[in-house]
Amino acid sequence: MGCETSVLCTLLIFFQIIGRSFEMSHDFVPIRDDLFSNCEENPEMGYLDAFADLSNLSLKRGAGGINISGNATTIWDVDPSDVVEVDVSILKFEGDKWIPTIIKGNVKDFCKTFFDKNTIYYSYSPKHVVNKKEVKEKCITSPGTILVWKPYLLKISFSYAVPLNVGRHKAVIIYSAIDKAGVKRDRDICMEIVGDIVNA
Ligand SMILES: *[C@@H]1O[C@H](CO)[C@@H](O)[C@H](O)[C@H]1NC(C)=O
Ligand SMILES: *[C@@H]1O[C@H](CO)[C@@H](O)[C@H](O)[C@H]1NC(C)=O
Ligand SMILES: *[C@@H]1O[C@H](CO)[C@@H](O)[C@H](O)[C@H]1NC(C)=O
Repeated sequence: MGCETSVLCTLLIFFQIIGRSFEMSHDFVPIRDDLFSNCEENPEMGYLDAFADLSNLSLKRGAGGINISGNATTIWDVDPSDVVEVDVSILKFEGDKWIPTIIKGNVKDFCKTFFDKNTIYYSYSPKHVVNKKEVKEKCITSPGTILVWKPYLLKISFSYAVPLNVGRHKAVIIYSAIDKAGVKRDRDICMEIVGDIVNA
């Protein structure tokens, strides 16, 4: 996932490895049952409704995390040959505004690494996709592709060694499509997941 160059990857892979031998000390608890909200700082970018139809996807929040099941149909108006780049950054709410943390990451070719078991996000979503072969071929750049998830519980935990403290945080996730000529399309999609980091 282009991890060599990404602070997020390096940190999180490192801490995941540590996490296996140490207890997880923090959970990230999303504040919304449906996880996602609009990007406050990037109102000009598209949102989920331009990205995928989630009407057959069920997200149910319970004590242990969020139960996810069902399917999503891609509707992002880009070309199947496009390369998808993803940027993730974590911000913390302090005082009355969102402040960037040192944690940010970038995936240069999302479609190539979506099912790579070594990525930090693999166990959070791709692992549970049932129709991996089809999704691998079409990725999220072919409108109409259906991603089918077998039901799973989403729980985000990390070790105390990750440099984030208790409090309100958000992850800002931006998907960009780059065309064959290497030009970024004006079709960025941005979504946020706001939640609280709590002691586990
Ligand atoms: C949702 O599921 C129904 C029933 O199978 C199907 O007819 C419909 O096309 C699906 N919608 C989407 C957006 O996947
Ligand atoms: C998608 O979800 C709907 C509603 O749960 C279901 O009826 C349909 O069979 C699902 N489609 C696929 C391809 O799994
Ligand atoms: C989530 O799924 C588990 C079983 O996988 C179930 O025990 C639990 O009650 C579900 N929680 C919600 C909120 O649906």
